[in-house]
Order: sequence, then C-alpha cells, then structure tokens
Amino acid sequence: MFPQRRMRRSRSKNIQPLLREITVSKTDLIAPLFIDETITAPLPIASMPGQFRYPVSGIATVASELWKRGIRAILIFGIPKAKDPCGCSAYDPEGVVQQAVRRVKAEVREMVVITDVCACEYTDHGHCGIIGETRCGPDLLNDPSLELMNKIAISHAENGADIVAPSCMLDGMVGSIRAALDDAGFEEVLIMSYSTKFASALYGPFREAADSGFAFGDRTTYQIHPGNSREALLESQMDADEGADILMVKPAGFYLDILAEIATLGLPVAAFQVSGEYSMIKCAAERGWIREKETVLESLTSIKRAGAELIITYFAGDVAGWLDEEQ
Ligand code: PBG
Ligand code: ZN
Repeated sequence: MFPQRRMRRSRSKNIQPLLREITVSKTDLIAPLFIDETITAPLPIASMPGQFRYPVSGIATVASELWKRGIRAILIFGIPKAKDPCGCSAYDPEGVVQQAVRRVKAEVREMVVITDVCACEYTDHGHCGIIGETRCGPDLLNDPSLELMNKIAISHAENGADIVAPSCMLDGMVGSIRAALDDAGFEEVLIMSYSTKFASALYGPFREAADSGFAFGDRTTYQIHPGNSREALLESQMDADEGADILMVKPAGFYLDILAEIATLGLPVAAFQVSGEYSMIKCAAERGWIREKETVLESLTSIKRAGAELIITYFAGDVAGWLDEEQ
C-alpha cells in the first residue's frame, strides 16, 4: 500500500480534527451528587478528592452552577439522618432525595433530575432492600424488596424526578417499577436501569461517600461476577424487555467489551464511571504521575467509542469546564 497510502497524511495538525470519529460533549454527561440530610455545609469526601456531600440547602446552587456550565442532567444519591431495617426513609415525602429534587426543580426546572432508587443508604444493615433468611443464611430477599423499590420510585416521581434509576439488581425490578409508575399516573417518567451491574471492588470509595457499606456479607448474590459476559448481556436484555428506557453498564472502564455488546440491543446505554475509577485517576494525578485532564478525556472518549450515549461521571463539572477552554 505504501507509498500510495500514507496514514499520516490524514493526521496532520489541521486535517486531523475534521476526521475525528468520537468527541465527548456536555450533553453526554450526567453528574452524580451526594445530598446529606445531616449536614449544613459541604463536606469533603476523603476517598474521592474534589467531591463533596452537599446539604439539602446547598443543592439548588450546585445544580444551577452545573447548569450554567452546560451540564443537563444530575443523578442524586441521598444520605438520610435515620436508617432502619426496612429502609423506610427512602420513600418519606420529606426524605432527603425528595427534598433535594423539589429544590433543584424549583431552581432549574429544565435540569434532568435522575434519582438512584435503592435502599442501601437507608437500611441499617446496608443491603439494597429487605433482608431475610434463605437456604444460605441471611440475604437480600427479592420479591419483598420489589414493593419497597416501587414505593421509592413513586415517591421520587411525585417529587419531580424525570428519570428513576433502580440500582438494586433485583429480578423483575424494572417491570415492577414500570407498572407501579404507570398505575400512579407517571407514564412520562423514564426508567434508567442499572441493568448490568457488576459486583465490583471499584465501588469502594462510594460506600464511604454515601455511607452505604454493608454490615455482613457482600453484594455478590445480586450483582454480576466480573467474569460472566453472557449473564451480563441477559440482564440488560431482560430489563429492556421489561420496559427500561435506558440501559446501563457499571463500572465503565473495565467493562467496555460488555458495553459494546449491550449497545447492540437497540436502547440508549449509559455507562457509570464509578467512584473507584474516579479516585484512581484523581489520586495518580495528584501525585503527578498522570495528567488529569488528558486521562479523563481519554477515558470518556473510550467509553463513548465502546457505544455509550451517556456517561455518569464525577468529572462531569470539570469536563464541562475543559471543553469550554478548548473552544
Ligand atoms: C447503590 C449504588 C452503588 C453505586 C451506585 N449505586 C454501590 C453499590 O452497589 O455498592 C456505586 C457508585 C460508585 O461507585 O460510584 N446500589
Ligand atoms: Zn443499593
């Protein structure tokens, strides 16, 4: 082929930008936010340098700053003042997420507000739903937990959530929540399912951030083992069949092969660049071992290249700023 074909001809400084296949833009990004009912000023999260828990009173300002930067969607996690065995405060009309959604919607009406629908921040045992005895000892009970997820999703929708994002990996959660939302008159509310969620060590920093560590066991009886790709595909396929509007792969960076496969199912796909992915980049950059901006943009480009329409990333606000600088 050479010398007729010279690949470098198309890589010259001026030509190259015209031929770029994948670019990350602000509307691809979703910013996760932690709202803590027990604080009155932002609280730095030690395991995630640069991230904070915000008080309910501060959320509107944070959301409007993100909006001004061009971020159009946020994902809210709540840290309640009280935990109990059933996670009841997760569907309290005056609960932390419910208050936060109302305040964001009152301040920036067009911001797309997504809420994490799960019970692990609200249960005293830290598991994602109702616990009971099984053949192998105490574990997350599937069907009793579905009712809890329905209540949480409806409560979030009642308070203004545009998209609910069930993250508990229960069987039947999407179908159950869809029916409950429709019955309650919320057929316009979307479901972004954490459809393919792996049991990953990369959630470590999040558990400190959201105070959702578990008192016993682990999450391997409901989340997928990292080695199982057929199971990963089937999980997303089932959620698609149950009526999910948006699928999700989580974590993102270690699972790009899975993401590429799930992107062929026909629904939009979100990828969650999780707390551990954030902290690995952040900490290496803090030590001067890698360059933060370049590494983050490379990671997001790769996630998009694999097939994601949306990326949930703790870097969202920073990325919006960097994209502005580049213009
Ligand atoms: C709760 C939930 C978790 C994350 C999002 N929702 C933790 C878990 O499943 O243990 C992880 C997010 C992150 O690590 O950034 N079900
Ligand atoms: Zn959970």
